[in-house]
Amino acid sequence: MSLPLGGAPSTHVLKPNVERFEGVVFNEAFCMRLAAAAGLPAAAVESREVGGISYLLVERYDRHHRPVPDGAPVVERLHQEDFCQALGIVSEQKYQKEGGPSLRQCFALLRDVSSVPAIDVARLLDDVVFNYVVGNNDAHGKNFSLVYRPGGAGEIEVRLSPLYDVVSTIYYSELRRDMAMRIGEQYSSEKVTRRDFEKLADDAKLGKALVRARLTEATERVVAALANVPATSPVAEKVADLIRHRAEMALEEFRRR
Ligand SMILES: Nc1ncnc2c1ncn2[C@@H]1O[C@H](COP(=O)(O)OP(=O)(O)O)[C@@H](O)[C@H]1O
Ligand SMILES: [Mg+2]
Repeated sequence: MSLPLGGAPSTHVLKPNVERFEGVVFNEAFCMRLAAAAGLPAAAVESREVGGISYLLVERYDRHHRPVPDGAPVVERLHQEDFCQALGIVSEQKYQKEGGPSLRQCFALLRDVSSVPAIDVARLLDDVVFNYVVGNNDAHGKNFSLVYRPGGAGEIEVRLSPLYDVVSTIYYSELRRDMAMRIGEQYSSEKVTRRDFEKLADDAKLGKALVRARLTEATERVVAALANVPATSPVAEKVADLIRHRAEMALEEFRRR
């Protein structure tokens, strides 16, 4: 790790702990590792400490490490744009209730601009389910991005970014109880039903049967991943219990007919 000098592109993002949210670094580290263990593309994270302050070290996904013969790879910036920017929505309105993007708009955006819409639409669905299961109510339009990567023949490849900024926000009772974007008709992640997920299928323009199968599968993968990601702090342990409980409730709801 080193600090970037003279405009050299940094390779990591540092997120220091926020005092009023107990162990948020460990919460985020746990959620991000869980996402990766569940098979979702997610930014690589590590929790660290310096001078008694913990922080999260997040590997940047908007970088290209260009190989150089006989030398260290050169780090190059990739353009990225969050969903609010891509949809022309100002950041003050990142929450759907305040004029921010809806899931319907997010799915439509990916269908429009992604170079591989079939894969990215399915990935966004997995991301939505993951955020729901871990209780991340803060998955707003600036917490999803597009990454632009130069391809062959002067083409630019546009893809959904890996997951980032995933925190089990429901762990903190003072944080907003509503999800940043509603699922179906429901803003409360405690009250989402199978019908709301059917509506989500409509919003994503995907078949209901396909969505139901994918929801169950994605949630089962989270449950399996819980057994493989060590909770290395008291907060992570509590977050893990919370997620396990939510995943069981979600599976019950998805399996109802
Ligand atoms: N791993 C990453 N690689 C590249 N850019 C990132 C990464 N993580 C976050 N960002 C960018 O930095 C912004 C702020 O990071 P985020 O994790 O969302 O922090 P905050 O909790 O302050 O919202 C994001 O909206 C995104 O544009
Ligand atoms: Mg953010």
